[in-house]
Order: sequence, then structure tokens, then C-alpha cells
Amino acid sequence: MSLPQIDYVPGETAIQLQEAVRSRVAAGALGNTVLSRPEWQLPGPLRAALGTTVALPCPSRGYRMVRGLFGSLDAVGPTPAHWSQDAPRETAEFDVTLALVAETLGAVFGWADQQDGRLVHNILPSKGCEDMQIGASSVVPLAWHTEDGFHPERADFLLLACVRNPDGVGSRLASIRDVALDPADLARLREPSVTIEPDDSYGDHGAPRMPSHGMATVWDGPDGLCVRYDPSYTRFLTEEKEVIRSLERLGDAFEECGAVISMSPGDLLVIDNDVMVHGRVSFRPRYDGTDRWLKRVLVRAPRSRPESEAHEHGFGQERVFSSAAVRGAGTGARTGGSAHPAG
Ligand SMILES: [Fe+2]
Repeated sequence: MSLPQIDYVPGETAIQLQEAVRSRVAAGALGNTVLSRPEWQLPGPLRAALGTTVALPCPSRGYRMVRGLFGSLDAVGPTPAHWSQDAPRETAEFDVTLALVAETLGAVFGWADQQDGRLVHNILPSKGCEDMQIGASSVVPLAWHTEDGFHPERADFLLLACVRNPDGVGSRLASIRDVALDPADLARLREPSVTIEPDDSYGDHGAPRMPSHGMATVWDGPDGLCVRYDPSYTRFLTEEKEVIRSLERLGDAFEECGAVISMSPGDLLVIDNDVMVHGRVSFRPRYDGTDRWLKRVLVRAPRSRPESEAHEHGFGQERVFSSAAVRGAGTGARTGGSAHPAG
């Protein structure tokens, strides 16, 4: 994969956005509430101006790096020790900017059982999670994965915004469109022979007690190959050795074609969750308030996925929308996934 192409937000647009953010924060908006009031959403001309830079990535590229959206980060306090220990007032301008920009791309949502149903997630290292396969890990690489691959209503686009990253800890990206795999491997991966269960950030919600849906690892979208992959939480529904080897070879192929991107404070990464898998290199956590700190927002902008996904139970995990996002989502929800106000 080639080095990241960075899109810079024009200065005048950034100034207008930051003024709009400051006025909403002054009126009491936080990242998790700003989408609950229609009057807090961005005006049409500013949305149009933003759209020239913060558009969805084209599938052939699969991601977009945007710089210049966020204002000063001086008021942001130390990196919390745990996602739940943040100070929403201190990061309000950053969080509100991220939520408002994400809303221009689709319906912003969270999960009822992940990070207390927040719409803006904290991604930072936490004690006790160092060697887990979740965003709070550190000393082990975070393996290639599709975000929330266990669920049929998973995000179409994943937004990561960098608050701080003093050690330049790298995020990893790889596109299914770049893998060199034997047609026989791809044919096996098109079969619904695995099931992906919720990751450990969701805790125990009875996944083993629910019937297993067969999930295809790759499928043909309208514009090319798409992927659903999370080997850390995958169970095989077959004992065919070649199927297992094909999934392993897919992992090897991601290693060969993937790239490492180091995000700097204020950078926004928009990732196509159907085309790209992502991960993170390992790092030694500091636990002194200066650790790498990203914010994450999930966006639904539905496109074609395998018909069989419409019958999946999603392990009972329910999505959470802001009330305004629900009104604006139109046909966003395709299956299950009750919508609850988050604000
Ligand atoms: Fe992830």
C-alpha cells in the first residue's frame, strides 16, 4: 500500500467549523449530545464546504487522512487511565468537531454495551488490558480486523481522530483489494464457514449460547471485493483444513500489502470498514497521562452486503443513535439493532 495521501482542510472552512463548534460547546454541547439537537447540526453551506475535503474515501483507496479540522488541543487534559475516566468538558471541542464531521458522512452510532453507549469512544491503553485484542491493549500488536465484524449492522466507515501520540505509535491498514490470493482461497473465503463473535470490549453477552451464523469472509460488492475478518474472535464452522489455511493465507496477504500510518494530533482517519482491515503495532504504555489517545466514531452509510447477513442476530448487541441521528438516518437500520437516544 502506498504512503498516505493527506487531504488538508482549507483554512477558511476550518475557521468556520471551529467557530460553529465553539458556539455549540458554549451552549452546552458535548461529543455525545451534539447530534441530539437539530439546531446544533452544521449549516448547509459549511457541510458543502467540508464535503470537498471530508468526503467518504473511494473504495479503490479505502481510507482518507484529513488534517486541519481540529482547533487547539491546549485545553485537553491528560490521557485518562481508562475510557470511562475522561473529562467530556475538557475534550468537548475535539469531540463535538468529530461528531459533527462524522454526521456529514452518515448516521453516527454506538453500541449499548460498549463504552456505556457513547457515540465518541476513547481509545487508549489501560492497565490489565495490555495483551488483549481490544483497543485498550498495548504490548501486543492489535491484529488485523474489521471493526465489529460480529454484527450485520457494523459500521460502514470508521473514524479515528488523534488527540495525542507522542511516541508515533502506528496504526495499520490493509485493503482486501490489494491482496494477492489464489482464486481457490478466495472461493473458500466466499463460503459462510466461520462465525465472528463479539470482542472482549463487550464483555460476556451470551455469545456461546446463541446459534452460530455462518459468515462469509469475502464477498463481491458492487465495486469490488469486500471483507469481514477478525481472526482473534473467529470460530470455524467446518473442520476442512483448507478453509482454515485459506483464512491464514489471507492474514499473510494482509501482512504483505499492509502499511503503517502514524497519526499526529488533530489527524482524522476515515476507514472503509468493508474494504480495509486495520490494526495497531505494539507499544510500551506510559501510564503517566501522556499515552497515545485516539477518539473513535462509527458511521453507518449502508451499502450492499451479503443477503445472508440480514438474518443474523448480531449476538443481541444493540446500536445506539442520537435522537437527531435517528431522524436523519432514514433507512439506515436494516435489521434488528434497536435505536435508543444517547443524549
Ligand atoms: Fe478496531
